[in-house]
Amino acid sequence: MILVTGAAGTVGSEVVRLLHMAGCEVRALSRNPEKLSLPEGIDAVYGDLAKLENIGAVLDGVEKVFWMLPMDADFNFPQLARQSGVRHIVLLSSQAVDIGQENAIARLHLNAEQAVRESGVSWTFLRPGGFMTNSLQWADSIRSEGIVRIPFGDISSPAIDSRDIAAVAAKALSSDGHEGRIYTLSGPEKVTPRQQVGIIGDILGRNLGFETIPDDIAREFMLKRMPVEIVNALFDLSSRSQEFSAVLPSVEEVTGRAPYTFKKWSVDHIDAFR
Ligand SMILES: NC(=O)c1ccc[n+]([C@@H]2O[C@H](COP(=O)([O-])OP(=O)(O)OC[C@H]3O[C@@H](n4cnc5c(N)ncnc54)[C@H](OP(=O)(O)O)[C@@H]3O)[C@@H](O)[C@H]2O)c1
Repeated sequence: MILVTGAAGTVGSEVVRLLHMAGCEVRALSRNPEKLSLPEGIDAVYGDLAKLENIGAVLDGVEKVFWMLPMDADFNFPQLARQSGVRHIVLLSSQAVDIGQENAIARLHLNAEQAVRESGVSWTFLRPGGFMTNSLQWADSIRSEGIVRIPFGDISSPAIDSRDIAAVAAKALSSDGHEGRIYTLSGPEKVTPRQQVGIIGDILGRNLGFETIPDDIAREFMLKRMPVEIVNALFDLSSRSQEFSAVLPSVEEVTGRAPYTFKKWSVDHIDAFR
């Protein structure tokens, strides 16, 4: 049995689908399991990764886990999984770990990696860069005003399709040879937010506007939605994005196919922007 956490999320939902297609027995975890839309035959269970009091039942009979980290994750999870008989954890970490403990987003993922290592369970760490799905944050202003206003509009990075991260995760969970491996993952090409908006506009057949807004205005807006240390961490990551801009062969090396382009992602998600 493979437990997939974050089963409602962009990566986890695809991990569930791919493992099911590969014939694996899957248990899908969510805080709202009744809302999951799952292929037939998959067990949906309630679980909160920030409150592990009742996690024993969720882990019963589980051999492998896909662990997606919420911001409030309880780092005892790997230890409890090990005690319950789990043999392997595939952790959705982040390329941000390279920045180190002073960055709150890096710290979350570094602490999780450390907890997995210390648990004694065998592991695979996935360290993706920025997700293509982050562009969904622009959907409201594209739909209502035909414009995107963000900071860092001209910084390029090889954003990755969540489906490619999931494909690597599914391989690591369903085949041998991934134990103790760290896969740093990227998309197939560097693209700036301005170019991404252009691609979405081309597919929509609309001429979309793009404005790079000053950092202080962006910061004020973000502070209304996120804790200050996360806002600081995101600015830190964006200003150092050149350090994470390499296009890497890892998705293709593990899955045997090239990662999806932003154009492909946009075609497949275009309804969100209509
Ligand atoms: N976005 C990026 O660019 C990026 C880059 C590198 C790494 N990452 C990492 O990738 C992971 C996924 O990020 P995302 O923003 O794309 O996520 P997402 O797809 O929006 O999914 C978030 C999931 O977290 C689950 N969740 C939240 N709190 C939970 C809790 N306490 N217990 C159990 N499940 C909980 C939610 O499930 P329910 O509500 O159904 O419980 C939801 O399915 C994060 O760890 C993030 O740090 C993201």
